[in-house]
Amino acid sequence: MTDVRERPELETGVLRGQRVTLRPYNSSFTEDELRRLYRWNRDDEVLRWSGGMPLHMSFAEFKEAFPREQRRRDQQVYVILTETGELIGRLGIFDIETRNRDATLGVVIGEKPYWSQGYGSDAIRTLLRHLFFDQSFETIHLFTYTDNFRAQRAFAKVGFRKVSTRRRFPFGLRFQDELRMEITRDEFERFNGASAPPSTPPAPVPRHGGTRGDGG
Ligand SMILES: CC(C)(COP(=O)(O)OP(=O)(O)OC[C@H]1O[C@@H](n2cnc3c(N)ncnc32)[C@H](O)[C@@H]1OP(=O)(O)O)[C@@H](O)C(=O)NCCC(=O)NCCS
Repeated sequence: MTDVRERPELETGVLRGQRVTLRPYNSSFTEDELRRLYRWNRDDEVLRWSGGMPLHMSFAEFKEAFPREQRRRDQQVYVILTETGELIGRLGIFDIETRNRDATLGVVIGEKPYWSQGYGSDAIRTLLRHLFFDQSFETIHLFTYTDNFRAQRAFAKVGFRKVSTRRRFPFGLRFQDELRMEITRDEFERFNGASAPPSTPPAPVPRHGGTRGDGG
């Protein structure tokens, strides 16, 4: 069993990567941080790559609805903070399958100047380490557009492999070709070698649940 005194994040829920800190979604947010989340949900370029739907509500409405989003128990979401504590993105798992110990990963760096600087892959590696070694997940998969080469490179850097492609017809939109990528716990351990801490006994997987964007 991992000693929480050596891994303080197991007490607080905060996860630390090489450069990023992942803070649970149910933590408290400053006004500036909420404005960032709101802005990403209305940014065409971010939405184009992440596959999200634009948010049609005012900031005041978003702020009022946010606590409900934070309380959702069918997903595990974190915000991504840089070395200086700046909030630049969000990632999490959805469609959690308790029986198969599998879930769908979604990730977005909403602050575009931070793209391609290694924050995304560090954040994904940090979350996967937690899911595979502190929880009992066996596989994590994701969907990304076939032309999203930056995302595919970031996922490959963590050890995800390409599995299949499928054509989707999002409501009211042109069709999109999506690539499915997957990684197992063993593959993660082999690929990331010494950076993976010793496994802890499996904990129960949170219960089955819904979907969101961030996975396009
Ligand atoms: C996808 C995303 C999370 C990745 O995070 P990131 O911090 O940008 O990724 P990283 O810097 O860790 O890795 C990106 C890699 O892609 C490379 N890259 C960038 N543009 C590329 C391109 N057009 N073709 C191939 N590789 C590219 C980068 O050079 C880097 O590789 P390197 O470290 O070997 O040089 C982030 O870019 C993002 O949020 N994009 C918009 C939303 C999105 O696409 N979400 C994913 C939906 S599945």
